[in-house]
Amino acid sequence: MDATKFMLDEKDMPRQWYNLAADLPTPPLPPLGPDGNPVSPDMLTPIFPMGLIEQEVSQERWIDIPEKILEILSLWRPAPLYRARRLEKLLKTPARIYYKHEGNSPPGSHKPNTAVAQAYYNKEAGIERITTETGAGQWGSALSFACSLLDLECKVFMVRISFDQKPFRRLMMQAWGGVCVPSPSEETQAGRAILAENPDTPGSLGIAISEAIEAAVTDKTGKTRYSLGSVLNHVMLHQTIIGLEAKKQLELAGEKKVDVVIGCAGGGSNFAGLAFPFVADKINGAEIDILPVEPTSCPTLTRAPFHYDFGDTAETTPLLPMYTLGHKFVPPPIHAGGLRYHGISPLVSHAVKHGLLTPKAYDQLDCYEAAVLWSRTEGFIPAPETSHAIAAAIEEANKAKEEGKEKVIVFNWSGHGLMDLTGYDAYFSGKLINYPLPEEEIEKSTAVLKNLPKAD
Ligand SMILES: Cc1ncc(COP(=O)(O)O)c(C=O)c1O
Repeated sequence: MDATKFMLDEKDMPRQWYNLAADLPTPPLPPLGPDGNPVSPDMLTPIFPMGLIEQEVSQERWIDIPEKILEILSLWRPAPLYRARRLEKLLKTPARIYYKHEGNSPPGSHKPNTAVAQAYYNKEAGIERITTETGAGQWGSALSFACSLLDLECKVFMVRISFDQKPFRRLMMQAWGGVCVPSPSEETQAGRAILAENPDTPGSLGIAISEAIEAAVTDKTGKTRYSLGSVLNHVMLHQTIIGLEAKKQLELAGEKKVDVVIGCAGGGSNFAGLAFPFVADKINGAEIDILPVEPTSCPTLTRAPFHYDFGDTAETTPLLPMYTLGHKFVPPPIHAGGLRYHGISPLVSHAVKHGLLTPKAYDQLDCYEAAVLWSRTEGFIPAPETSHAIAAAIEEANKAKEEGKEKVIVFNWSGHGLMDLTGYDAYFSGKLINYPLPEEEIEKSTAVLKNLPKAD
């Protein structure tokens, strides 16, 4: 029987994370403070513990993974690498399609790979409580899970519209002991200001980030820090365990060369996690197409400018050099909540700038169509975010068929969609529409960048 899954033993889990910053052709630009000067590591100490700040600025290629983190990750890692044989057959493609299944973690996505690491470094630093934001609830549930295993309190500001419409992830957070409030809330100045202006606002990730940071830095005990589930360098770093495992598993599958690597991209972390170890190969001369995939409704990498911008609506974060639709941008209400962020990881942005990545964008209806095709062939029901990577993998497999080439395609199956079935309901009942972002919207939303430093 031909193998479907390629599994590693727990003892073969990678012992180090890979840091792309060490290998990029030019050093990434630094984050800037309000005065326009680079942010120094000590300026970040009210927000993050030193262990994470050191990783944020590190230029070391390899960083050891502490034993305690590996012990918790071993609950679900190494994650299996699957070969999508049934889909290959249906598509009649000569391509071999592999996917890394990150949906088997307790919260159901790749997010706990960094949640566990972040909780660990906070615990090591004597922190007792972590605040964060969440969109549809994937990240909030992942951090609540990690905090419960490391005996930390967790406070989650959840974008109001999801808080009201998606109670199940909120209940998962509660099951793991996390406290979840709708954002904007009355608990922070940022939240109160927005509610005073617009009491019926559905909220946004940018607003929730402002609230979570404010709640951390204004806590008088000094024992609270903030945690971000994507975008930052240390988050990309923690996710590289995905790509490092995948490389070993592709060897087990007998593959000597990979042609296409794909991941959906919101803040960039699941994409980076799979792709960065392959980007290193590309820098060293390998011919690989590496595709971050985003929605046409939030086309950060495909249509937005590369510029310094804030990570949040209330302008509390340092300025980050990244592709951005502008920090006041409120994306259309598509069902892939995790892909509705105005910016994207500076490391991913830098790699795009250097031509190492080829970003693509897909409409949500095409992604749901791909998700349903996938569910009916491969069985696992994907998260709406993941469906973007599936749509791209199918397109690449069809291209290989047209070209008559035996390509090896690997993509990151970032999470299951069992908590996102309302999106499927809307799709099945014909209520979903596409929202390709009009050019005027991009011009309007990026106008805020005019007063901020250029990133070139
Ligand atoms: C299943 C899933 N995939 C992808 C993403 C996008 O985030 P990132 O780009 O950081 O991987 C999310 C975010 O919530 C998610 O839940």
